[in-house]
Amino acid sequence: MENFVIYNPVKLHFGQGVVSKLGDVATNFGKKALIVMGRGSARSNGSFDQSYASLKAAGIEVVIYEGIRSNPIIEDVDQAAEMGRKEKADMVIAIGGGSVVDSAKIIAISIPAEHSGWDFVDGSKKPSKALPLISVLTLAATGSEMNAYAVVQHNKLKKKIGYGHQLLYPRHSFLDPEFTLGVPPDYTAYGIADLVAHSLEAWFGEGESSLTDRFIISIIQEAMDYGPDLLKNPNNYQLRAKIMYAATMALNGLTVHGKKSQDWGVHSIGHCLSVLWDIPHGASLTIAYPAWLELQKSRIPQRISELGKCIFQVSEPDKVIEMFSTFFSQMNCPVTLSQAGIKADDGAIGELLEVMRINKVGGIFHTLSDEDHRQLARSMR
Ligand code: NZQ
Ligand code: ZN
Repeated sequence: MENFVIYNPVKLHFGQGVVSKLGDVATNFGKKALIVMGRGSARSNGSFDQSYASLKAAGIEVVIYEGIRSNPIIEDVDQAAEMGRKEKADMVIAIGGGSVVDSAKIIAISIPAEHSGWDFVDGSKKPSKALPLISVLTLAATGSEMNAYAVVQHNKLKKKIGYGHQLLYPRHSFLDPEFTLGVPPDYTAYGIADLVAHSLEAWFGEGESSLTDRFIISIIQEAMDYGPDLLKNPNNYQLRAKIMYAATMALNGLTVHGKKSQDWGVHSIGHCLSVLWDIPHGASLTIAYPAWLELQKSRIPQRISELGKCIFQVSEPDKVIEMFSTFFSQMNCPVTLSQAGIKADDGAIGELLEVMRINKVGGIFHTLSDEDHRQLARSMR
């Protein structure tokens, strides 16, 4: 086991009605909030109305930036930051899914700066301060509500980069599973796939930590036991709550303590599919995982086998890969590009390889060569 430090400063408020406390909490950070939202769902799932009512009751003035898209782009982030600067916001409140929370994180470090948020994301500048950030989560998937990462796209550069910095932790996150009751079946499934993928990125990271491995397995089991049930019963609060809790735990540090690293190779492949074809994040992972496991099965058969034994009670790597593909397919997630509606002809594969090269696709532990990229691209067809 490696030495480790446990630090997670996010105060998480979980359960029905927790947003009623948002206003009181916000008074700790000033008088005016920049609210950041997506493209409409927050206005229909109750999260905006409840947040607004609580903020108003506490005397917090608000300005609203609406329009963050799924697979968020830097132009929207920069526009919202400009609004926050002009309006002299004291804090940023994200109301939405991972795309909104991630954007709000970069907005919060960009407002005090005089340049594009991309300069932080690409590492050319370091943030020195951030406006306090509060998130009101409406979709169970990314774990952004309790971590210090944000993923943003730069379409002209064909890059989608995950950026991490201590200043990105939200101060508070409000998770009311009720807000997720209306998430459509596709995004519900993508969220479940994403939390499984985060657990797998941890499982295939470097280093040995048996208790951490058990946490990882438990989170995957939770998703597999209750995810398909939830898709059949989307209005079931208890199932929504289980999945929301699991998604937060899958990427808040719990799955890495004592290990050297996670891997993130599959996410880096998935980000290329999103930047090129705007494939939703979770769907990009259900396409990339089978191909990645296929590539790795002769390199790390034991690790795949051990995973299979814990999750499916099968140990043969081919069988384990098949079981994961079946799980994703049963949730109606694509496991190939063609299932995602992409005609992966030679031209498209060439473009994909170029984007993989630009984004330096590979894992922290399992690096990937140009030949690996070619094999991955072919087997995702
Ligand atoms: O735009 P709106 O109208 O809000 O609609 C969204 C969007 O269309 C909708 N939605 C959200 N909550 C809803 C709802 N629809 C109905 N009812 C609700 N309650 O769902 C769609 C997808 O939303 P999005 O925020 O894009 O999804 P997700 O939470 O999966 O976030 C994906 C983004 O997070 C990044 C991904 O790369 C991707 O850009 N990730 C962030 C990570 C992190 N910060 O740690 C790690 C992840 O691996 C991931 O990379
Ligand atoms: Zn993810």
